[in-house]
Amino acid sequence: MTNYKNPWWKNSVIYQIYPRSFQDSNGDGIGDIRGIINRLDYLEDLGIDAVWLSPVCKSPQDDNGYDISDYQDIDPMFGTLADMEELIRRAGERGIRIIMDLVLNHTSDEHPWFLEAKKSRDNPYHDYYVWRDGTEGELPNDLRACFGGPAWQWVPELGQYYFHQFSVKQPDLNWENPRVRREIYDMILWWMDRGIGGFRLDVIDQIAKEPDLGITNNGPRLHEFIRELSRETFQKGDLITVGEAWGATPELARRYSNPDGSEFSMVFQFEHIGLDQQEGGSKWDLAPLPFQKLKDVLDKWQTELWGCGWNSLFWDNHDLPRIVSRWGDDGQYRVESAKMLAILLHGMQGTPYIYQGEELGMTNVRYEIGGYKDIETLNLYKERRELGYAHEEIMKSIYARSRDNARTPMQWDDSPQAGFTEGTPWLKVNPNYPEINAAGQMKDPQSIYSCYKQLVRLRKEHPVFVDGRFELLARESGQIFAYTRDDGKQRLLVVCNFSGEPADSGLAEEWKSMELLLGNYPDSQGDRLRPYEARMYLQKCRQQERV
Ligand code: GLC
Ligand code: CA
Repeated sequence: MTNYKNPWWKNSVIYQIYPRSFQDSNGDGIGDIRGIINRLDYLEDLGIDAVWLSPVCKSPQDDNGYDISDYQDIDPMFGTLADMEELIRRAGERGIRIIMDLVLNHTSDEHPWFLEAKKSRDNPYHDYYVWRDGTEGELPNDLRACFGGPAWQWVPELGQYYFHQFSVKQPDLNWENPRVRREIYDMILWWMDRGIGGFRLDVIDQIAKEPDLGITNNGPRLHEFIRELSRETFQKGDLITVGEAWGATPELARRYSNPDGSEFSMVFQFEHIGLDQQEGGSKWDLAPLPFQKLKDVLDKWQTELWGCGWNSLFWDNHDLPRIVSRWGDDGQYRVESAKMLAILLHGMQGTPYIYQGEELGMTNVRYEIGGYKDIETLNLYKERRELGYAHEEIMKSIYARSRDNARTPMQWDDSPQAGFTEGTPWLKVNPNYPEINAAGQMKDPQSIYSCYKQLVRLRKEHPVFVDGRFELLARESGQIFAYTRDDGKQRLLVVCNFSGEPADSGLAEEWKSMELLLGNYPDSQGDRLRPYEARMYLQKCRQQERV
């Protein structure tokens, strides 16, 4: 049973793997479970506690596995159920738990439930999905799908529309139906029996939709559903659970991550992630990052969840561009800025997530439009062309925001295809792999990889990383992001220059009496911070010193 006061995931670091792009083991150009097993040494060396795997279940791959046609089998592209069980076991032998991605808002339109559901209105599975009567061409309402186009798809045989918040091949499940919920719980329990260490819950705040009222996320029954889900499944084990909740506020997150364990361990909130886009626009409408706002938002989340909830800490995932290209500098200061971003994030309270390749400072890519594979990117391109946007303008958005930035193959070494595959990779390898790769960085104590490795270790060595209270410093500075964490016994000071120009932090007096834990330059001398310089200091035994 879960120990709610001191759960294992509070001093853990999670590593996210996008299986398709991690390691291919059979030369078909697609990463697979065997490939992950072959790379367990790497994961163990980095020191992480658990791996979150993006979906590996059976799927037609319309949305790279986020369209599941069998929750209880593995897609042959990734391997077999036996491979998955072997991965769970062999990772477990090294103290690494496997977290599965649960896609519960929708299934594939090729899932047997949906194939049944669309046979007739009185089919027992019909009510597993969300249907509305209508006539062709006259949509129930004007709700749009997240990947473009209307959220309604006409099925002539039934004279009905089904609701889909994502692609037409991802029909939404009807959570109002208790049978749907029961099937889902049984499926989750089945995975728990196989030794799964936790779950990441895809777009969980969209399950309780009320399409007639135009409500897609944070529907009225959302927390009722989640509490039932948690009670019927997760609470029977000692799991980490993290919900993806684009619409979360600190207030909602306190419910989701209530320390009584009634919902999840934590959620992914995205308030900081949406800061560098135009107001009223979408993620494709670029704007510079408002640095003060970034500080305010992260400060708010750190402060408002303290003692009554739990944060997840992340910059990157498989849906987001590479952070070093986004808020760092992927040119001259790539190494320094990637480490600065890591130090800044990993000093905060919460459970940090490292997305594959982030620990190497992997960067965004710029391909011809024909080089992109992501359904969202391709739909966006088509839609904006039809709206009259210029090719160059759309490409600018795609370079900055396409999900494929994060999905290029993992850069293992400087051999052909970066050591990812012996065949042709499903998505082109970033051409900078001879310079940026794991093999090179693992032997270099000054590398980005080594910095991440130290951060993972520090979190385990010093309780202040887990419990210390956050306080933002230098609030008005346009360059410095600095804060302390204090648990009454230890005090941690993190000072980062978030700019490409030297900066005064005004904190030099403070750190003089402290011990340097980590910096991102080979030496951490001087009162001024160099471009993107970051330092982490620790003060121990304050109470004794005061006496
Ligand atoms: C989540 C996933 C994303 C997927 C979508 C639909 O946002 O992270 O990759 O496309 O849900 O399942
Ligand atoms: Ca393969």
